[in-house]
Amino acid sequence: MNDTALEVVDLVKRYDTRTALDGLSFDVGRGTVCALLGPNGAGKTSTVEIAEGFRTADGGSVTVLGHRPQDPAVRPRVGVMPQSGGGYPGLKAAELLDLFAAFHAHPLDPSDLIERLGLGEVAGTPFRRLSGGQQQRLSLAMAVVGRPELVFLDEPTAGLDPQARRATWELIEALRHDGVTVLLTTHLMDEAEQLADDVVVIDHGRLVARGTVAALTHSDGEIRFRAAPGLALEIAGATVTETEGRYLVRGLAGPALLAAVTGWCATHGVMPQDLQTQRSLEDVFLDLTGRDLRS
Ligand SMILES: Nc1ncnc2c1ncn2[C@@H]1O[C@H](COP(=O)(O)OP(=O)(O)OP(=O)(O)O)[C@@H](O)[C@H]1O
Ligand SMILES: [Mg+2]
Repeated sequence: MNDTALEVVDLVKRYDTRTALDGLSFDVGRGTVCALLGPNGAGKTSTVEIAEGFRTADGGSVTVLGHRPQDPAVRPRVGVMPQSGGGYPGLKAAELLDLFAAFHAHPLDPSDLIERLGLGEVAGTPFRRLSGGQQQRLSLAMAVVGRPELVFLDEPTAGLDPQARRATWELIEALRHDGVTVLLTTHLMDEAEQLADDVVVIDHGRLVARGTVAALTHSDGEIRFRAAPGLALEIAGATVTETEGRYLVRGLAGPALLAAVTGWCATHGVMPQDLQTQRSLEDVFLDLTGRDLRS
């Protein structure tokens, strides 16, 4: 069996004069969770919807479980949670999930899913009367109830409260445990750090980085912390830079550098805040995609 669940090669998508995807390539291994990251308008939803067979590409190719996205053979093997919408407005939550379960040969137990996602009290409420976060949780349940081999989740936790976010994370962990492949998009870097085996960062429809979270955030010989601005921090053999109280010390990797930094702080009565020996995924993301707002 091929160990690639999703393969995207030189994908191009244009909307009128705007090029949303500009030769994007990446793949997702079977049984892994891949987080597709990128600023607003980077092309995440376009990519996901082409892979789901909902939009057509203008160039390149996508292979889903060995098939073209529109291939009817692949539809029952794939679960989809769109960025918005998804339900039939008049149907009740439980009816909707039962209906989706009935489309599949070996569905998960819908009432168990309803409980796991905390929807028990609104099971009898029509979809259109559910709150935004409840609709979102139900649409996650609809995406996974058919026991898909591959699930596309487009910002599954956007707008969810912290409890619902945890429940969603647990569900995604359980999918991974069952060998399901997950492609998820998110703007929450901690979500990607928590869930993803691999991270793919795109911008302007192009790949800018990919790798494990550990590989992307690895930063040998760098220590960062916050403290009052303007400290005359000097560490032998290291360079120190400061922007508005955010200090970056670069030197020989290892605990000796850490000891030198904290030693200096102790001598000078400075308590370093947020001391990090690794870059955060958010730092990496901002370095890769810039700090300017997107339209
Ligand atoms: N149906 C459409 N018609 C015209 N332009 C579109 C359409 N869908 C997307 N675009 C444009 O294509 C680009 C990529 O959009 P896409 O929705 O794929 O981005 P995204 O990465 O999902 O963004 P977000 O993080 O805001 O969800 C954007 O510039 C957007 O304006
Ligand atoms: Mg999107």
